[in-house]
Amino acid sequence: MCGIVGFVGHEEAAPILLEGLSRLEYRGYDSAGIAVYGQEDGLQVYKAKGRLKALCDLVDNGAAVHGTVGLGHTRWATHGQPSDLNSHPHVSQSGRIAVVHNGIIENYLTLRQRLQARGIHFVSETDTEVVAQLVDYYYKDDIMDAVVKALSQVEGSYALGILCIDCPDQIIAARKDGPLVLGYGDGCNFLASDVTAVIEHTRDVSYMEDGEIAVLTADSIKVYDSLLNPVEKEHFTVDWEISAAEKGGYEHFMIKEIMEQPDALRKCLFPRIKNHKVVLEDLSLDEEYIRSLHKIDIVACGSSYHVGMVSKYFLESLLRIPVEVSLASEFRYCDPIVDEHTLVIVISQSGETADTLAALRQAKKLGARTLGVVNVVGSSIAKECDDVLYTWAGPEIAVATTKAYSTQLGVLYLLGLHFADVLGRLSPDRYDTLVRQLLLLPSCLEQVLEQKENIQYLAFHYFNHESIFFIGRNIDYAMGLEGSLKLKEISYIHSEAYAAGELKHGTISLIEPGTLVVALATYGKLFDKTMSNIVEVKSRGADIIALTTEEHTAAMESQASGIILVPELDPMFMPSLAVVPLQLFAYYVALNRGCDIDKPRNLAKSVTVE
Ligand code: G6P
Repeated sequence: MCGIVGFVGHEEAAPILLEGLSRLEYRGYDSAGIAVYGQEDGLQVYKAKGRLKALCDLVDNGAAVHGTVGLGHTRWATHGQPSDLNSHPHVSQSGRIAVVHNGIIENYLTLRQRLQARGIHFVSETDTEVVAQLVDYYYKDDIMDAVVKALSQVEGSYALGILCIDCPDQIIAARKDGPLVLGYGDGCNFLASDVTAVIEHTRDVSYMEDGEIAVLTADSIKVYDSLLNPVEKEHFTVDWEISAAEKGGYEHFMIKEIMEQPDALRKCLFPRIKNHKVVLEDLSLDEEYIRSLHKIDIVACGSSYHVGMVSKYFLESLLRIPVEVSLASEFRYCDPIVDEHTLVIVISQSGETADTLAALRQAKKLGARTLGVVNVVGSSIAKECDDVLYTWAGPEIAVATTKAYSTQLGVLYLLGLHFADVLGRLSPDRYDTLVRQLLLLPSCLEQVLEQKENIQYLAFHYFNHESIFFIGRNIDYAMGLEGSLKLKEISYIHSEAYAAGELKHGTISLIEPGTLVVALATYGKLFDKTMSNIVEVKSRGADIIALTTEEHTAAMESQASGIILVPELDPMFMPSLAVVPLQLFAYYVALNRGCDIDKPRNLAKSVTVE
């Protein structure tokens, strides 16, 4: 959603804020702004519609703004269209209070009307301006008292940065259902939506909890609960390098992250396999509980949901326990049937997705045991789940996820094998084979990545198509959902993923001469069935790109104009290999179409609103 950064120290704040915003731009990128307080210049607020670059140009990369305390914001619009006026920071009518916000103030209209009735004039259409005006309304001589009073009136979600010109040596932060990280520097301190914005300056961080309010000065960070009792924060050391959040010579973060997948998988899998056995030390679920399981619910959004779709196939087959996969936005409102014998697995790269977080809370309330598969350390979902297995993919910056998808799948493989072992569902030989193959996944992925040029060529050939279908059966179908989403997200081509056997019940009417169909046929058991569906669309004029294994090359050559081969492993591991060419295909198609690959229109990486 939106990105927040705050700085208080002894150096010029503006360049630091802009640099921090450049690392948070993936969270929202329709406008940006900064508010800086300087002894001589007072409160200076600059905002610009469009990418961060517009703001950087406006303030001469920060050189035009003087002061050592400030807030910055990069926006993904919710209330009010992207415009200079609706951009954050928002300043109260008196000019005393500036606010940046991530989240949604749900009762903003009521609050706005109340304040308007008291003569307060609003200048933007945003929900956030209400916070600035409300804090100012309550502010007499104690800013903390005003913030607490204002927050007690506010309903919804927020991560807030607040600057008051009467206390020019501090910034205030408050959090409810929106991430906020505190960074402890040397003679300076930081506030941000995500550690990527602070790690250039410090690796010493703590994560704010819901209801907490923090006061940052150059020399200290004090944190309080909602009743203003002091809170002792646990400190964490960020252990990855800043280069992980930089392009490192690649044209886009997305291609860099695609290429990082073998290593990301190694980091995710290898430490959890000891002596050819899956060992999940971070998991507290005991064997008795695993044996008592009646059902597994997987709940997630977007690509994480697609990981759930793939996992259903292999988990059910391995465990013989029913697995339901739900979109978090549906699960939270569908009166789900879960109890203490249900394990609810929530999957989330960011760990902050509002729908997933709400679904998790609901599952807990209903008595289910919860397990998070999360990438971002210290995120809300990671903290609130009964158990968490981190994916260890490192920072993922491109809005379209790639390495997070792969490592989420990696964690689900580990979990499936661990549960199958506890339940005694696999013979020692089969268990051993699967573990050995899991260890081979990263190097097999490297082989897949070597076909980059072939996929680039196919993308060049087909990038002008206005509609592209992905078909497959079983686990290939589930994987096709992700291939199709990747393409839509970044190339804006209309695309559908279909269970190949279902085409004849409607969708085949959309196939006409020249329609591109990406046929996914890695699942050996159903190869012949999928082949029949390929022939059906081919005979209606479709162009076929096929993704299959070497064994089936000859059969495919007569039907497909392009073939992408992936190494053959057990069917459960095939999506892990086959999704990578689909990511590359989407990437190169988008590149040919001149799209803004890392920041596709209308999207944001971390969706912290409903
Ligand atoms: C957004 C992103 C998607 C992502 C989804 C779920 O829509 O653009 O790429 O899959 O959120 O995010 P999560 O962080 O919960 O995995």
